[in-house]
Amino acid sequence: MTATKGLEGIVATTSSISSIVDGVLTYRGYNIDDLAENATFEETAYLLWFGALPTAPELQALKRDLSRFAAIPEEVIAQMKLYPKDTSTMAALRTAVSSLALYDDAADDMSREANEIKAVKLQAQLPTVVAALARIRKGLEPVAPKEGLSIAENFLYMLWGQQPDMVSVKALDTALVLHADHELNASTFAGRVTVATLSDIYSGVTSAIGALKGPLHGGANEAVMRMLENIGDLEEVEPFIQGKLERREKIMGFGHRVYKNGDPRAKHLMRMSHELGVMKNDTTLYDMSVKIEELITKQKGLKPNVDFYSASVYTQLGIERELFTPIFAISRVSGWTAHILEQYVDNRIIRPRAEYTGLSEQKYVPVDER
Ligand SMILES: CC(C)(COP(=O)(O)OP(=O)(O)OC[C@H]1O[C@@H](n2cnc3c(N)ncnc32)[C@H](O)[C@@H]1OP(=O)(O)O)[C@@H](O)C(=O)NCCC(=O)NCCS
Repeated sequence: MTATKGLEGIVATTSSISSIVDGVLTYRGYNIDDLAENATFEETAYLLWFGALPTAPELQALKRDLSRFAAIPEEVIAQMKLYPKDTSTMAALRTAVSSLALYDDAADDMSREANEIKAVKLQAQLPTVVAALARIRKGLEPVAPKEGLSIAENFLYMLWGQQPDMVSVKALDTALVLHADHELNASTFAGRVTVATLSDIYSGVTSAIGALKGPLHGGANEAVMRMLENIGDLEEVEPFIQGKLERREKIMGFGHRVYKNGDPRAKHLMRMSHELGVMKNDTTLYDMSVKIEELITKQKGLKPNVDFYSASVYTQLGIERELFTPIFAISRVSGWTAHILEQYVDNRIIRPRAEYTGLSEQKYVPVDER
């Protein structure tokens, strides 16, 4: 038995949800470029869960359900108020999502129908949880979700406590479409491993949030923003990046396990970053990002991934850095739950082997003789 580090190149399951072939990402056969330009996030989530774009009545019904489920239990809000204010939003989100299960009577109902409802419910509730966490950290009261708003609009409304402008809503909606699913990425795999023991959907999503939190996965977008903040202005980009490369440190937001010729999602976020900068008469963050990209591509041959330009997009929308990875979760929960539903359909426990590299032939020695 020989181990493959990081399971690189290992095909661990079949899936009909999303695919990456020759650098092209598709959800259910639709090119991500097509969806980013034309679909709403609600249509995209429906597509991931049910395999086809919704008809108008199906979309209306989904929007009604998302509105109906968006409120979160008072008990969960009360618990969130007790979390330490300086804890990371992802750690708080992981805990809050886990406790949502405690207030859902159907949490352990493993019927297909109940699990589909819970997928929609989790999608509806995650934005409410993240907005509430953000407000509580600032000493503000959470704002209840408003009926009839899209996920992107409702999230910004609950976050800011006022109606968001439509440019911000559109930009966030597109970012949600771009982050919704990504084949067998680390958090999706974590979610599938968890539910493959026939554990419940809340446990699967909680595992996935834990995996997304790390800086090599979803946490990279926050790390990119920290880097841009540390650099400060355009003139400092070159010495900063040069120093990092000399110290052989990783530059967050670059490289990818699957894409070696560029992440197809990055160009959309790059364009949005530029447009938002121009609109705000300040393209500093965009210009710095472009300079970093030029340097890294030239010296390391690495291309930006989805997390690189999303950092400047979210900042220009006025969203604080601590919410970048939670926003990734608000989007990716659609993909996680689609994969969990798929896993349940033809389940087998996921239990690979390890290549043993430890000691052998050891003999027990009593504690006072060691
Ligand atoms: C995404 C990532 C985890 C993929 O990891 P992986 O497939 O295991 O690739 P590795 O980390 O083994 O990288 C392969 C080589 O490229 C280099 N490399 C990869 N990403 C790099 C980066 N962001 N900055 C500098 N060097 C990088 C590695 O140092 C390694 O070089 P070496 O062979 O000389 O040691 C990795 O590219 C990374 O850490 N990127 C930064 C974090 C990030 O943006 N994550 C979000 C992914 S969407």
